[in-house]
Amino acid sequence: MRVVLFSALSICGAALAQSSVDSYVAKELPIAKAGLLANIGSTGSKSQGAKAGIVIASPSKVDPDYVFTWVRDSSLVFKVIIDQFTSGEDTTLLGQIQNFITAETALQQVSNPSGTISTGGLGEPKFEIDGTAFTGSWGRWPRPPIHLHDRLANWLLKNTSTTSEVLDTLWPAIKLDLDYVTASWNQTGFDLWEEVQSSSFFTTAVQHRSLREGAALAGALGQDGGAYTEQADNALWYITANTGGGRSGKDANTALASIHTFDPEAGCSTLIPSARFTLSTTGIAANAAVATGRYPEDVYFGGNPWYLATAAVAEQLYDALFVWNAQGSLEVTPISLAFFRQFDSNVAVGTYASSTPTFHLPHRSRFLEVHAKYTPADGGLAEQFDRNNGTPLSAVDQTWSYAAALTVFAAREGKAPASWGAKGGPQGAVVSTTFNVVAETVLGEDIYLTGSVDALMNWSPENALKLNPDNYPTWSGELYHKRSLWTSPASALIEYKYIRKVNGQFEGLGESDPNNQVTTPATGPFVLNDNWR
Ligand code: NOJ
Ligand code: NOJ
Repeated sequence: MRVVLFSALSICGAALAQSSVDSYVAKELPIAKAGLLANIGSTGSKSQGAKAGIVIASPSKVDPDYVFTWVRDSSLVFKVIIDQFTSGEDTTLLGQIQNFITAETALQQVSNPSGTISTGGLGEPKFEIDGTAFTGSWGRWPRPPIHLHDRLANWLLKNTSTTSEVLDTLWPAIKLDLDYVTASWNQTGFDLWEEVQSSSFFTTAVQHRSLREGAALAGALGQDGGAYTEQADNALWYITANTGGGRSGKDANTALASIHTFDPEAGCSTLIPSARFTLSTTGIAANAAVATGRYPEDVYFGGNPWYLATAAVAEQLYDALFVWNAQGSLEVTPISLAFFRQFDSNVAVGTYASSTPTFHLPHRSRFLEVHAKYTPADGGLAEQFDRNNGTPLSAVDQTWSYAAALTVFAAREGKAPASWGAKGGPQGAVVSTTFNVVAETVLGEDIYLTGSVDALMNWSPENALKLNPDNYPTWSGELYHKRSLWTSPASALIEYKYIRKVNGQFEGLGESDPNNQVTTPATGPFVLNDNWR
């Protein structure tokens, strides 16, 4: 009897929690939209001094001073606006979009500390809100491209404009960014958070997307997009790396990469690979409802949870639910196992149909409840909230936080973004390889992988790929890479070694000789099971 009562209670509990999220979303959605528009010049109520179409990061003037315009933040904000406009959800936004394009097109021309328009200036991450260069010191390069122009261009082509109008108005700016990305995507620069020299999973993933979309748009406009396709293919195998700068590689930027490259028509082939990474790299696997920060080593303004990171993790799960619902089943992989076991410790690797209880486990995730709980009564979304008492911290009214709320709310309603053409194409040319090695470690030790090919970082212990200990003592890593790079010449003999690092030190800590060897098969995916030697 008690048991029955208990489970009845917990079902009620779940239902209650759902409806509290429903009412949070109903209340917060208009606040987030208004908060976002308030930060766009020149008419936004909190963006005095900003030129038309310029997005301020936040009205906060001190601690931190965010009254600048970041190209990345602005692009993510206008991604929401353009999606709302092109989907017909809000037809009043065209003027804002035109202002934004005028403003960004002007910023491309502004010489800045990264260079001129032809010498690297297109990579500048941030400008003054009057549209002039920001000349202070900064972790520069790389901003992600403004790939969302493409979506607008496609809409215009379908609805109001001729090819030659789009060629005259939008294409020159889009082409500048695409050519810049084509030439520079594989340079290392700063991480997403502009703090350490590193590459960024997010940046490379959205660059890949922009090249793919750009190539398609070029085709529609009768232009040559061959170079974009070629570099998009190259970028795809590269987006697995996310370490650097002495960081663990657990980083919310994998969740951000996943949601901003989600393509519902490609199903598993886009979202699920990165979801598999993310669910195991953001460090969230052990807890069902956690406030999520940027990365474990974060100390910026106390290194607290961020609203946009918590929203991104929630959104990624809604995207996954969308795909799983559409296909009527879900897969539990060795890497996502820990994620599922937080809900039910008996889950095993396998495929679960929608009729099974396992299929419904992810619905128990409560990230949005956490977001709701720490949103203050007036609905204002700052950058962070205090890890101890939930008080909003750092920049107030952060535009990106509002944009992140709007996209997670849309995903929760099952509104998938429009396809960007991820299906087919280079995806088909990609092989996934899982490296599993059984290695006992002590606290502070981690296992990495390097080897004789580009995809394995060419015997560079510094850049070796960090493996994941979720299934300790097995350390695992999954690589996606272009088949031609992996197997060229076909059935190549590849050598690799696992290495151990302790506080970044690896001298003398690799496996003993000889190197491990594998002859790459012609088709994937494939799995290597090794024991540390
Ligand atoms: C700090 C974040 O790390 C960076 O990614 C962002 O662009 C700026 N804040 C502005 O919001
Ligand atoms: C250097 C590596 O550190 C070593 O372990 C390996 O055996 C050789 N390169 C490649 O043969």
